[in-house]
Amino acid sequence: MEWLAPFRTGSNRFRRTTSGNAIHPEGSRRSMAAPIPFPAFQYAHARRDKVAWMSQNTNHLAPSATVRAAIDAALASGEYVGYPFAAGLPELHELVRQDFGVGPETGCLVTAGGTEALYMLTRALLQPGDEVIASDPSYLIIHRFIGLSGARVTELDIYHEPYRLTPERIQAAITPKTRMILLIDPLNPLGSGYPAADVRAIAEIAHDHHLLLLNDVTYRDFSEGHALARQWAPEETITVWSVSKNCGLAGLRLGGLLGPTDLVTKIGRYNTNDLGVNILAQRAAVALLRTKSEWFPGVRRQTRQNQDRIRECVRSVPGLSLPVFPSTANMFAIDTSAAGISPERLQEELLRRHDVFLRAGNYLSPAHGGQFIRASFSNLPSDIDRFVAAFPAAVEAVRPATPSATS
Ligand SMILES: Cc1ncc(COP(=O)(O)O)c(C=O)c1O
Repeated sequence: MEWLAPFRTGSNRFRRTTSGNAIHPEGSRRSMAAPIPFPAFQYAHARRDKVAWMSQNTNHLAPSATVRAAIDAALASGEYVGYPFAAGLPELHELVRQDFGVGPETGCLVTAGGTEALYMLTRALLQPGDEVIASDPSYLIIHRFIGLSGARVTELDIYHEPYRLTPERIQAAITPKTRMILLIDPLNPLGSGYPAADVRAIAEIAHDHHLLLLNDVTYRDFSEGHALARQWAPEETITVWSVSKNCGLAGLRLGGLLGPTDLVTKIGRYNTNDLGVNILAQRAAVALLRTKSEWFPGVRRQTRQNQDRIRECVRSVPGLSLPVFPSTANMFAIDTSAAGISPERLQEELLRRHDVFLRAGNYLSPAHGGQFIRASFSNLPSDIDRFVAAFPAAVEAVRPATPSATS
């Protein structure tokens, strides 16, 4: 793998020209002083089978035999040769509706991952000048989509107790321009979950102020006692679902949204997948959703055991802490700020030296990304073994001699 050569050695990531300028591995010129960020994903994908993937909240515990049987059958029948039924398999719609306890009066779109649904709905429902109330930390890709529609995100800092939005803070942030509230529950990256009373209060705020409520519930199956916002604001809520995390199908790219039919029709106009989404993904999702009640409790149990083990390990390392525990999702943040440790350096050390891949917080928080690294843990116990063996040593390798209070 020749293209890996530029980042084999930590300090020698530049090629030099005769004039002394450094050349980025991709070829662009940079000044000698500017370091090239470690291309963590490029590195990890090149060593895909060796890496313990704890960086993307993916689920490595769903029954792969079920997925394989469903995809094998779709391949054998040649179903992939034709375009799928554009709206998505009727069985898939039926299973999603059952899963969310909604009937045919609720609109349902099937998209290429929840990401596509998020893009479509922000495009369709927001205009320049609108404001959306959201949190920081958050799943910032949604904020980017909001920005592309010309709307502005009001990011409420939640990196302190209770590490989630509260109805009171949302209420206080509403202005005449507010058009939407973004409620990600459970929240990526912190793992915080919203109590039903708060979901209800936030839904009622949306209803009373005629605001849209975007309820992203990508991680809801990991949470016990999760409450859907739509039950209290059915006319205002768009629920974004995904099979990436609960069903462990992130690579197949399938998700969608549910909502009142008038809104779903409006959103559907922005559908670029006019010819339908991947049929193999749909078949795999049908097989897993049909049997979810049989296998998901085991996934949740293992995920919970894993986070307990990670907590024990983090506790043994001076200066590190977990802002949110237990996580109601399959990830949480590990705060490194009291130890003065750079999350990016720790990410690089863990990946390069130990093949353990966690994600630095900078892509999840404008204000606090330098303070935490995110670990996800719906993984095989063997991955957690590797984390436990690697983490304390990796922290010591990047710990500054004199800790600073912040980073
Ligand atoms: C909160 C949240 N919403 C949506 C997504 C996107 O999911 P999908 O893989 O279905 O596009 C993610 C992925 O990490 C997520 O964390």
